[in-house]
Amino acid sequence: MAALPPTSSSRVPLIKRLLGKKTDADSDPAIHRFFEDKARQQGYTLSPGQQQVIAVMARQSVQLLAGRPTHSLYLHGAVGRGKSWLLDGFFQALPIAQKRRVHFHNFFARLHRGMFAHRQQRDALGSTLDELLDDCRVLCFDEFHVHDIGDAMLIARLFKALFQRGVLLLVTSNYPPAGLLPNPLYHQRFKPVIELISARMDVMEVSAPQDYRSLTQAHGEQRFTRGRFVWPGRQAQRVALGLPPADLPPLSLTVGARQLTVRGHQKRTLGVTFSDLCEQPTAVMDYLHLCEDFDHWIIDGLPYLGDCPIAVQQRFINLIDVLYDQDKHLILLSEQPLDQALSGHAIDLARTRSRLGQLHEAGPNAFEQDLVPLEPLS
Ligand SMILES: Nc1ncnc2c1ncn2[C@@H]1O[C@H](COP(=O)(O)OP(=O)(O)OP(=O)(O)O)[C@@H](O)[C@H]1O
Ligand SMILES: [Mg+2]
Repeated sequence: MAALPPTSSSRVPLIKRLLGKKTDADSDPAIHRFFEDKARQQGYTLSPGQQQVIAVMARQSVQLLAGRPTHSLYLHGAVGRGKSWLLDGFFQALPIAQKRRVHFHNFFARLHRGMFAHRQQRDALGSTLDELLDDCRVLCFDEFHVHDIGDAMLIARLFKALFQRGVLLLVTSNYPPAGLLPNPLYHQRFKPVIELISARMDVMEVSAPQDYRSLTQAHGEQRFTRGRFVWPGRQAQRVALGLPPADLPPLSLTVGARQLTVRGHQKRTLGVTFSDLCEQPTAVMDYLHLCEDFDHWIIDGLPYLGDCPIAVQQRFINLIDVLYDQDKHLILLSEQPLDQALSGHAIDLARTRSRLGQLHEAGPNAFEQDLVPLEPLS
């Protein structure tokens, strides 16, 4: 499937368009107002990078509402710099109904499933996109990263198809386009996708001197941040927190079309071990299915991640991405403190550290009041 030729606006480099002559009519004041109000309510001071992105979004909104083609947007930067905050805000503020905000893992899992279902058709991708997107004009992908050459090839086709449909694509990633799929074995083959992104998307870095997740004001409305990291997980800690015993026998649970091993479930609370979910051949789709049924997750037995095979580390990273994205309440137990447990070299581990760093840590010397369960678990 060939990509459409660039639109006339896409031939002008981003910097020129940012600095070029602007009129009020180019920029949607409602988008500016929305972000100003949101930042004020949350007590945030926006970084210069965030302000620049908002200016671009305000211009995209004008184009979009006028039915004109507009450049897509690729936001990248280190963890916790407020990329998803911008994406979610824009998504919320856009006054149109034909928009979808999806987690990339989630969308990709559905894409694979749909393409398998339509495998007899000539354009399985097109038919799947018709089903998944319907009349969607704005598609937001949070957390875009690529580790597998198979996925990479599908991404190339997906992006071309989306641009061809005139969908405005907004992406956040911890990687600049040139840093995607860093594995030197595959990077060369991925270059056409990088070129496609550079040609069809405004690529902007969202930087800030610190991970905003380390500021308590960022913790406000999320359920995830009310979760706990408990170590070494002694019986007394478990009792104080109202947790089930550590040695529950395995139990089979039907999840979608599969059987997974868990340790127990009650109402919307699920008990599992790290091994049940990450040392078995589970996939993102399984975690997403489990999220439909469970809001409170107790995950036992996080080991030294660095000692685990890379596939196991990657499953854990994906699992935490999903739980964070779906804003689930998590109690994670390990024999060692979090920074030791999360030693490891998997590429995306920095994101996992940043997310899990928001859990309340209850160690062996935690005071009694720290161990009182804050949340009812069902
Ligand atoms: N300017 C700001 N000041 C303070 N907190 C902020 C600011 N912008 C965003 N935040 C908050 O910081 C936290 C992290 O932001 P966000 O999730 O958007 O980061 P991110 O760049 O997407 O990180 P990651 O790469 O890990 O996905 C959120 O709780 C968000 O509300
Ligand atoms: Mg994010």
